[in-house]
Amino acid sequence: MSVHKEVKKVTTHQLQEMKRRGEKIAMLTAYDYTMAKIIDHAGIDVILVGDSASNVMAGHETTLPITLDQMIYHASSVIRAIDRALVVVDLPFGSYQGNSKEALTSAIKIMKESGAHAVKLEGGREIKDSIERILSAGIPVMGHLGLTPQSIYKFGTYTVRAKEEEEAQRLLADAKILEECGCFALVLEKIPAKLAAQVAKSISIPVIGIGAGGGVDGQVLVTHDMLGMTHEFSPRFLRRYLNLYESMTGAFEQYIKDVKSKDFPNENEQY
Ligand code: KIV
Repeated sequence: MSVHKEVKKVTTHQLQEMKRRGEKIAMLTAYDYTMAKIIDHAGIDVILVGDSASNVMAGHETTLPITLDQMIYHASSVIRAIDRALVVVDLPFGSYQGNSKEALTSAIKIMKESGAHAVKLEGGREIKDSIERILSAGIPVMGHLGLTPQSIYKFGTYTVRAKEEEEAQRLLADAKILEECGCFALVLEKIPAKLAAQVAKSISIPVIGIGAGGGVDGQVLVTHDMLGMTHEFSPRFLRRYLNLYESMTGAFEQYIKDVKSKDFPNENEQY
């Protein structure tokens, strides 16, 4: 008899059940096979192949330059590593804002070529048609409101969003629109905790926050930030679980020293 146990994959339906039972959802970003494998084995619920790859992987200042093909490259590397997590992929800037047909074509390309399980789009009522068209093809959609980095040049800064009543009301209404459209979950980025909790209470789909406080249904962080690999980025909401920048620098320095001093390789490290 085989002792191999099938790993139960996380589904969009399960995330909604988790919200109903009050179990928090844990989500992290990944852009490559090795990191995704570690995160998946640790038991994460959702992996986001975020367009933050544009910053973290490629060194761009914003998320705008990353292309659809580059997102597909990252997403397919992640998918090859996964046993359990639900994998959501960002539709990059310029691949869905033009019209709903273009949005559907982009979403289908991601699903077909990467094997991802769902897509994420930034925006509310202004992209409703695109979201509905993608959903009509049977592709699950995660929404994203609050700080939407693809619109950085419209807002001019990465500061907290929806602090004023008018913007808060608009965000609440947009969250309802996304729920009614059929989005399976919603990311809220960098908004007041009180507003985020109000959104999470007023809609039935899971709300996953980043810089949105603890009153939501789950949390997401950029993995390279929470591991302390990106030491120059320190927003208040970021909890660092390691200081990998420091420990990796130490390891690299030691390696350089060992090579220069001929300590590496020693007799046991050769053939
Ligand atoms: O691209 C990304 O990593 C994201 C998260 C910050 C939510 O959208």
